[in-house]
Amino acid sequence: MITAHDFPSAHVADAAAMDMVLVGDSLAMVALGMEDTSEVLVDEMLMHCRSVARATKAAFTIGDLPMGSYEVSPEQALQTAIRFIKEGRIQAVKLEGGKDMAPTIEKITKAGIPVLAHIGLTPQRQNALGGFRVQGKTSAGALRVLEDALAVQEAGSFAVVIEAVPAEVASIITRKLFIPTIGIGSGNGCSGQVLVQVDMSGYFPPGRFLPKFVKKYGDVWMESYRAIESYRDEVKGRHYPAPEHTYPMSEAELEAFTKATDEK
Ligand code: KIV
Repeated sequence: MITAHDFPSAHVADAAAMDMVLVGDSLAMVALGMEDTSEVLVDEMLMHCRSVARATKAAFTIGDLPMGSYEVSPEQALQTAIRFIKEGRIQAVKLEGGKDMAPTIEKITKAGIPVLAHIGLTPQRQNALGGFRVQGKTSAGALRVLEDALAVQEAGSFAVVIEAVPAEVASIITRKLFIPTIGIGSGNGCSGQVLVQVDMSGYFPPGRFLPKFVKKYGDVWMESYRAIESYRDEVKGRHYPAPEHTYPMSEAELEAFTKATDEK
């Protein structure tokens, strides 16, 4: 599973045979330049979901319910989830939270909308968690993550994202569940993995902070930077556009035109 936030990033993910494409609310930061995910609005998420849905032909698409759009009540969550399906044109929703969100997950899944749960480090709650901190590092903490996993499974989630939990804990939790776990910063014992596409493809300037768990598989930013630099230099040096980039005209028409415009 990988994130996508627009038509081209979804297109490439789908072409590269990703099983699932997530329109994560991380797009607040990586696509919209916001400070954190709490700022992004439902309508903004819906616009990005629509563009991803248009490009995704084979992968299963999931949209992240943004902070404030589902925590008030299961009814509020279902209304938002319905908008994601009808207006966002994606196939499932993701929401953050464990035991506390079980009634909400049940409400949405009973209405026929698949839910991907998200436990462990839940970035929308970073202020309550004291920042982006690894979860389940103590036995008691790990037991809480397991209870969350069992609760979201019981509530009907089709899978669960486990973020920033020690690898051994995520492996044990995976073995205790019958639904798949999708790890991010939780080791390779999960059933699958998810990464933010902008992070793993290196579409950011050098020096940007990356969480420890991210592996950079490419350098899209540098590739793009070099292409734009060459374009700038070729335009200024009048090497671009070359004759092969222009449209031909017959000599007779050109002569008539130059006569009509008094050009010699
Ligand atoms: O917002 C996001 O992109 C996510 C994934 C990284 C799990 O929640």
